[in-house]
Amino acid sequence: MIVLGVETSCDETAVALVQNGKTILSDVVYTQIKFHEKYGGVVPEVASRRHVQKILTVFEEALIKANLSPKDIDVVAVTTNPGLIGSLLVGLNAAHTFAYANDIPCVDINHLHGHIYANYIESDFHFPVLALIVSGGHTELILMRDHYEFELLGQTLDDAVGEAYDKVGRVMGLTYPAGVKVDRLAQSGKHTYSLPLVYLDKNRYDFSFSGIKSAVLNLINTHQMKNEPINIEDLATSFQESVVQVLVDKTLQAAQEYKVSHIIMAGGVAANSGLRKKMGEVVACHKEFILTYPSLRYCTDNAVMIAVAGYFKAQKLGIPKKNQK
Ligand code: KG4
Ligand code: ZN
Repeated sequence: MIVLGVETSCDETAVALVQNGKTILSDVVYTQIKFHEKYGGVVPEVASRRHVQKILTVFEEALIKANLSPKDIDVVAVTTNPGLIGSLLVGLNAAHTFAYANDIPCVDINHLHGHIYANYIESDFHFPVLALIVSGGHTELILMRDHYEFELLGQTLDDAVGEAYDKVGRVMGLTYPAGVKVDRLAQSGKHTYSLPLVYLDKNRYDFSFSGIKSAVLNLINTHQMKNEPINIEDLATSFQESVVQVLVDKTLQAAQEYKVSHIIMAGGVAANSGLRKKMGEVVACHKEFILTYPSLRYCTDNAVMIAVAGYFKAQKLGIPKKNQK
């Protein structure tokens, strides 16, 4: 089954073609980062307009690279939520028009489910699966007992972890998106600054990152007011290790409670070196779990993950492959 995936929920215009949820036939991503950098974050109006300008070219490029024509495609899969509404509408309109014009069924995909399925490109799922989603807009723990069954165990009550990284990076003078730059600084520092670890005991699998973000901002302000130097690498390491500690502890606790076999990390922050290392070390001590995370390209937004999710959603809905109709 060949699925065409479309992703425009934020600042990437992406179209991909994937066969049987595994074989990538083409993968086109046009990133708008340079247009948002100067504003320190994604400007929704700018994002929608860039999607409008690029969507048709990206569609055509994906088909040409895969050497396929519309008649070869079994299903169209498109991100419909969550995301910026103006951006989502561009992908949604393009995908539905293409599907309608070529008589192809079209399935709606939740962007976060797409992030989870980015793991399937390189690894099969061993159920029960626990997914830690860490992106710019979301931080969630999701339990999956089978394909395309999602049970939300907990989520952030305020900032998403990627958002905290971006805001902390911004006050450190780093450009958007700052997460990867904070990660790089953290690799050469020491954990010297004491920052709050927020566990929210009552909601065991919920998260909160606004406290640690504010603590970093206050620390920088206080040092500046007193004219005291601050070691930016050490601050990045202290922030990263504190955040990672909470993410890893809660994931491990949920993995044990729900007796999962497979822990998955997904979303932009799954690219984080500290999180990969710490989660890897902890899981290595627990032979009952395996750990996977996508390669760096498939941690951040792309359309391959939407096509893979579309493959499983089509199966769940009983949509047949074209020549089986
Ligand atoms: O999943 P994604 O591409 O977009 C959303 O769906 O939100 O995630 C983007 C987020 C940004 O906040 C970015 O700063 C963060 O992922 N990010 C990282 C790293 N790479 C990307 N955060 C920490 N460490 C990284 N290496
Ligand atoms: Zn995303």
